[in-house]
Amino acid sequence: MHKFFAKTRFIGKNVIYLPQCHSTNTKMQTFLKKTTLAEGTVVMADFQIKGRGQLDGKWVSQKEKNILMSILLNPTFLCLNQQFYLTIILGLAITDALGHFINNNVKIKWPNDIYAGVNKIAGILIEASVFKKSIDHSIIGVGVNINQQEFGTLKATSVLLETGLYQNREYIMELILLSLEEWYQKLKDEQYDEIIFRYHALLFWRNEKRTFSVQGKWLEGKIKGINDKGQLIVEIEDKERTFNHKELVFIK
Ligand code: BTN
Repeated sequence: MHKFFAKTRFIGKNVIYLPQCHSTNTKMQTFLKKTTLAEGTVVMADFQIKGRGQLDGKWVSQKEKNILMSILLNPTFLCLNQQFYLTIILGLAITDALGHFINNNVKIKWPNDIYAGVNKIAGILIEASVFKKSIDHSIIGVGVNINQQEFGTLKATSVLLETGLYQNREYIMELILLSLEEWYQKLKDEQYDEIIFRYHALLFWRNEKRTFSVQGKWLEGKIKGINDKGQLIVEIEDKERTFNHKELVFIK
């Protein structure tokens, strides 16, 4: 197992590898209560007993098949209302990395699910700690399905299912970390337009006529993009409306 990733500048230079743990995000929190860790520290595991997903959900992943990692970042340069940019650059880093294996088909379902075709291939769980109105540190949990073949009733997929080929998890992990470093630097340099432009190009269902549910009512609309607050812009009956996470459900 990797002790550090050779090609990156600072992300993944300090790696804590655990064969198994409850959750790499929780583990990182526990370490941070006891000690200081360098920015870019990665906690990675082969198995999580209590993997956590968004909205208090679970993240289930077979042993030694997939990427399960948490990355520590200290984005003190971001204001609280810019926190969504972290989700965005993570989405870009994962799609960049998976794009080496799966052509054209990897998209970001707003705000932070990564899809290959119509199935979810990766998820992101960001947990931030706030100090004096800015983000002191963020624990960025990333789960990517690499070599798993069965997902039961979940609408999920993996690199193996998409391509028919087994992959080295650590190699893909390094590709994600490398790309993340580049996007993180662009974020530091305030290159917001470039970041949003790329995100829009990868946005699932963008410019397609689709059905959504808003407050239980089905509506037809077209996703146009996101605004500078990270809200989704959807054109409905020739008017642009904006939505926060959970205010709209993707139907068909
Ligand atoms: C989602 O619900 O889509 C987010 C899933 C995030 C899963 C990753 S796996 C590594 C890290 N540790 C966790 O407990 N969750 C995240």
